[in-house]
Amino acid sequence: MRKASSAALHQIVFALGWLRDLLLRQKWFNSRVMPAIPRQLRWTLRRLYFIPFDLVESALGQSEEMIPPKSKVFVGTVDFKEGAEDGVNRLHRFGVLTPESHVLDIGCGIGRLAVPMTRYLRGGSYHGLDVVPSGIEWCNQHIASRHPNFHFTLADVFNGEYNPKGRTAASEYTFPYPDDQFDLVILASVFTHMQPEDTEQYVREIARVLRKGGHCWASCYLLNPDSVRMMETREGSLCFRHNHGTYWTVNPKCPELSIGYDEHYILDLFDRNGLSLADGVYYGRWCGRPLVSANSPGPDEGADDQDLLLATKT
Ligand SMILES: C[S@@+](CC[C@H](N)C(=O)[O-])C[C@H]1O[C@@H](n2cnc3c(N)ncnc32)[C@H](O)[C@@H]1O
Repeated sequence: MRKASSAALHQIVFALGWLRDLLLRQKWFNSRVMPAIPRQLRWTLRRLYFIPFDLVESALGQSEEMIPPKSKVFVGTVDFKEGAEDGVNRLHRFGVLTPESHVLDIGCGIGRLAVPMTRYLRGGSYHGLDVVPSGIEWCNQHIASRHPNFHFTLADVFNGEYNPKGRTAASEYTFPYPDDQFDLVILASVFTHMQPEDTEQYVREIARVLRKGGHCWASCYLLNPDSVRMMETREGSLCFRHNHGTYWTVNPKCPELSIGYDEHYILDLFDRNGLSLADGVYYGRWCGRPLVSANSPGPDEGADDQDLLLATKT
């Protein structure tokens, strides 16, 4: 009887998860439905949607110490296991992460990459920086408390989607770290929520805190003639309908919901700050590009939705 009800619960949760994944792959959902829902309502609906998942996980004894309940997660993906582990393995395969690396994860959210990093880093360190108080609080309580080489810092910085009460503009924010401190700076889906003047300041700061030869790994949406054509004609996961010149949005009223960048602009910005992108631009699937693109970094890498930048400080 217990086995049967646990199997039924599993199926319900599986079906809910499948439905969400399906919706999040649809261009019409991300580009028309999401922007039409007020931010507060979106965040509330999301929390409510995940409560059954949490109840089931807790009833089945599947909760894990460092992994937040899904209803607390405010970042795009709730896959804190395989997906995040793969992300860390890939950084290792690319040769930009070793167990001794000193890593800065900007926009660390609620610890999605930090959790697998706790199993990987040996001798290295991890610093996470984010603007959402509840995420940093969770990470400090559940991750930093167990791993002394892990540190999480709250930035009181404005973001229309993630922290509308933030008091400092990102364009005026200085990272709370000394120069030349990090081997690797990661921004997983962060420039996708930042406006140009903010991104410009962050790229300057990334260049400052990276040591020479260190790397920056950032995912983003790159708009170029190919991606614009595909975005408009194919079934990708996103369509930026508002072109503001250097950047594109799905909702001009809350640009930070989703932002794409003109590719020339972003490559030039990195270049001007001494961050070389030679052979470091990998295109993703978001615009409807086929699974493995010609410029994909390996046979399994084309699975990425967003485009990826891998820069080296020269
Ligand atoms: C899509 S989420 C990705 C989170 C995390 N990187 C992950 O992959 O799970 C975007 C994150 O960027 C953070 N963010 C937005 N603006 C920021 C800023 N100016 N400085 C630092 N973090 C920011 C948000 O709070 C949010 O956690």
